Amino acid sequence: MERTLVLIKPDGVERGLVGEIIKRYEMKGLKIKELKSLVPTRELAEKHYEEHRGKEFFEDLINYLTSGMVIAMILEGENAIKCVRNINGATKYQDALPGTIRGDFAYKDTYNLVHASDCQASAEREIALWFK
Ligand code: PPS
Repeated sequence: MERTLVLIKPDGVERGLVGEIIKRYEMKGLKIKELKSLVPTRELAEKHYEEHRGKEFFEDLINYLTSGMVIAMILEGENAIKCVRNINGATKYQDALPGTIRGDFAYKDTYNLVHASDCQASAEREIALWFK
């Protein structure tokens, strides 16, 4: 069994897509092990996206993640990391295929609704950060 961290970002919460998004993970057999809602501090957001510090989009990304309520979840299942990223779809809304969360619901830059850990090391680091 593998665990991964998923965030429903402020646009997902604001647009009332929480139930729709969680349903897609549950339909795939993934289990919610922990779930909480919070407005992330800048400190938490900057730690979360530490590897992107210095990139031109970093400030936009931090402002976006801290702009409202976020749902943080630990999901568990076989190959959970890959499965969740497939369900989320490509990072850019214009590349995300129909049938994925971003393909179906995202329509502008930055606001891509969800985040998921990209490998086991990231999942461990991110789970420890969001669920101390
Ligand atoms: S990189 O440089 O290729 O590693 O970046 P990438 O993997 O595409 O994206 C890393 C995270 O940054 C977000 N991102 C952005 N946010 C705001 N504005 C812009 N222009 C932008 N470009 C990339 C992207 O959604 C990734 O966040 P997560 O939460 O992992 O999806």
